[in-house]
Amino acid sequence: YFHTPELVPHTETPDCAIAIDVLRATSTIATALDAGAEAVQVFSDLDTLRVQSEAWPAERRLRAGERGGKQVEGFDFGNSPLEVTPERFRDRRLFISTTNGTRSLTRIQQAKTVIAAALVNRQAVVDFLKREQPETVWIVGSGWEGSYALEDSVCAGAIAAPLQSQIQLGNDEMLAAIALYQHWEHNLYGLLCQASHGQRLLRLKCEADLDYCSRVDILQVLPKQGEPGVLMSAPL
Ligand code: MLT
Repeated sequence: YFHTPELVPHTETPDCAIAIDVLRATSTIATALDAGAEAVQVFSDLDTLRVQSEAWPAERRLRAGERGGKQVEGFDFGNSPLEVTPERFRDRRLFISTTNGTRSLTRIQQAKTVIAAALVNRQAVVDFLKREQPETVWIVGSGWEGSYALEDSVCAGAIAAPLQSQIQLGNDEMLAAIALYQHWEHNLYGLLCQASHGQRLLRLKCEADLDYCSRVDILQVLPKQGEPGVLMSAPL
């Protein structure tokens, strides 16, 4: 488990890499695909998103831009999973750039399999790992601008805890993440409210987002990379 994308080694490629950004990018990505979005295309950079999304028909795209928890001017959408509705998203492609989450997805896009995970779709990710049994799995927390984020760690622990008896935990961070999850599993909303990015979102009046993102296993959706940077809903 790497708690920020900056820690991901440049020299190796795992069989499977899982990016987590519970607050809120991977929660939003899972929600968008569950709502019927055709695909979610991720960008670390807002300008590249603007240019590349121009090539897509306007009536079949949505553009989401978030920095510091706020919607970027000129974009259709910020990064709130609560703004995602089937009416708005069905059959459209979401082009999205966020402060940390989409950066971690782009950082791992060379892995053989790339998955986006959050608490909301945790079980779909666990089922995928049980079924496919990839030999090496990197779980990558998005953190906040290079530093540790509690909510991503607790989700890493929520994914690894049910697999514990069948896998070798790669590092102490993974063990700590499982312990964190076991301590907080019955009050994940409480943990998210204490986390520093949770506090930032509370200041931005996004309490309902924290509530939504703290729910476990509410979506049966597996966001999986097709071509680099493009996630689609994979069969379960
Ligand atoms: C991120 O990518 O850092 C987050 O998703 C920020 C947010 O809460 O919008």
